[in-house]
Amino acid sequence: MSEETKNAAPRRVLSGMRPTGRLHLGNYMGALKNWVALQNETNPDGSAKYECYFFIADYHALTTDYADTSEIRKNVRDVILDFLAGGLDPKLSTIFIQSHVPAHFALHCLLEMITPLGWLERVPTYKDQQEQLREKDLATIGFLGYPVLQSADILIYQAEFVPVGQDQAAHVEITREIARRFNHLYGSKHGTAAADAKSDKERLAELEQQADVREILPEPKVLLTPSPKLPGTDGRKMSKSYGNTILLSDPEPEIRAKLKTMVTDPARVRRTDPGNPDVCPVFDLHKVFSTAEVQAQAAEGCRTAGIGCIQCKGWLADAVVAELKPIQERRRYFEERPDEVDAILKDGARRANARAAVTMAQVQAAVGLE
Ligand code: TRP
Ligand code: SF4
Repeated sequence: MSEETKNAAPRRVLSGMRPTGRLHLGNYMGALKNWVALQNETNPDGSAKYECYFFIADYHALTTDYADTSEIRKNVRDVILDFLAGGLDPKLSTIFIQSHVPAHFALHCLLEMITPLGWLERVPTYKDQQEQLREKDLATIGFLGYPVLQSADILIYQAEFVPVGQDQAAHVEITREIARRFNHLYGSKHGTAAADAKSDKERLAELEQQADVREILPEPKVLLTPSPKLPGTDGRKMSKSYGNTILLSDPEPEIRAKLKTMVTDPARVRRTDPGNPDVCPVFDLHKVFSTAEVQAQAAEGCRTAGIGCIQCKGWLADAVVAELKPIQERRRYFEERPDEVDAILKDGARRANARAAVTMAQVQAAVGLE
């Protein structure tokens, strides 16, 4: 039977987000919207194509914010509201908080034992982030070990796919390497660590040569999120650290006000100057949010000085407001029902713990623990 016709078991998908506070349009277009699409994908027979796990990485927040944890709880709350507002559905996805599933940390500990320091020092985000967050002391084991914890997040579910943006691809790659090393060490069909006179080095080299290893921890594949260029109001990439964001939960007047001040084609100084949409960040947003007709109208009006930038931005605001309307309605629904949110998280943790226990039992046995 072909892949298409057989009623295959849903393929496991996992992704997570650090709790950095209310999500902005960049987080939505670059991650959450794609997660919702995966969650909703069905086979021809109507069954779910993916078994989805989506979580909030609150321990990961500690890797950089351990000295001031005062915001974490509120940020977790805001992200969970945005997850639900954005369309994650607890009936279709397992939605949970990392710290509610202790198996992440048990596996993390085992993976730390086998991960060479050099692998971690070479991860590009390690030095970059240290440079960018100079005001923080990030010379900690926790920060260096960030990718190992992320590997545990993924491998504890034996996930097949990890939908992330390009910035996280290196972390999925090191997850694959750690999984491979684990499988070579503990998945050997000839038994682990033969008790003979060989040195650790010789034994490792030998294990890495063996072809017949069991895949206890399958190597996950990155599912790169197609991310359209999404500039913030200052024209740079939309990012919380630049203070140029439009939040999913911004009220309509605020969205309109923010877009009104957005930078445009710098060469279009006067209303009578024709502009060039190809170099205008406002137009980049039109390409993401506006219909083809509105885009054509805006481009034509810009090039001929037929419209002013204020009008052009008004059309964009209409499109953004329309996209966010159902999201904001759902957010209000859940804001008013904290008990329902708690119940969703509790059930998510229950399901996640149950799945993690399956992996952990295999892992404990393979390593040779009771
Ligand atoms: N590092 C990811 C980020 O900063 C968050 C994350 C933690 C994650 N664990 C994960 C993403 C596991 C995917 C899979 O966005
Ligand atoms: Fe940009 Fe629109 Fe102004 Fe043209 S009319 S410069 S596309 S904001």
